[in-house]
Amino acid sequence: MMQTLPDSLHQLLRARTQVAHEHLNQHPLLVGLTQPDYPLRSYWLVLSALYHFYRAFEALIESASDRLKSGFDYAPRRKHGWLRQDLVDSFHIDPDDAFWRPRRKFLPIRIEDQAELVGALYSIEGASLGGQVISRHIQAGRLGVSAEHGGRFFHGYGEQTTPRWNEYLQFAEASCPDAAQREKASNAALAVFAEIEAALDDYSARADKNPRPRT
Ligand code: HEM
Repeated sequence: MMQTLPDSLHQLLRARTQVAHEHLNQHPLLVGLTQPDYPLRSYWLVLSALYHFYRAFEALIESASDRLKSGFDYAPRRKHGWLRQDLVDSFHIDPDDAFWRPRRKFLPIRIEDQAELVGALYSIEGASLGGQVISRHIQAGRLGVSAEHGGRFFHGYGEQTTPRWNEYLQFAEASCPDAAQREKASNAALAVFAEIEAALDDYSARADKNPRPRT
């Protein structure tokens, strides 16, 4: 992993989102994810929540990145297709069926300049570091998940995780040289954490309800 310099943007982003990250790790739908008795049903709810979030959010990232001519190519990093693959191919869940759809509206996160793009990307690209840890746990646990079966999303970039993260960090540092931009980037990163938390809340509210059987 890249060394964090004392005054780097990376360190600021990490410090500013630390509480939100710890809070998210304690979310009722995520808290047991690395434990062997984590229920498959919660896993489906997490994948569905993340699928709808990532689909909307990745569209926003890509259009902002094009519009801003950011120089950052998000296309090879797209993750909502992996979530869809896990749900549809491995678990035969159609995330567009009413039960698996979000009940709240996705609130578009502002991405109006390069600093906001950097911040928004921080949360989503950083999550793939945690995804590596989760991936190892769920493959070792009782969910019956592997990178090929139901765990494609958490497998993420696999061995490419560190180089992709370093590439993102370089882009981030180069894009936000001044304090005002760093501040903006931090706020955008926090907005993503808040939106993911709200998306998960929406799904944990239905954790004890059953979907209608598929016909
Ligand atoms: C979808 C929710 C999540 C988001 C948005 C998220 C976000 C992030 C971010 C931004 C980082 C990078 C921190 C840095 O700058 O170094 C990170 C790292 C990490 N996250 Fe999460 N995270 C999420 C869920 C989780 C969960 C549930 C766990 C619990 C297992 C977790 C465990 C970790 C770990 C262990 C790292 C450090 C990985 C490393 O340094 O190699 N994350 N996450």
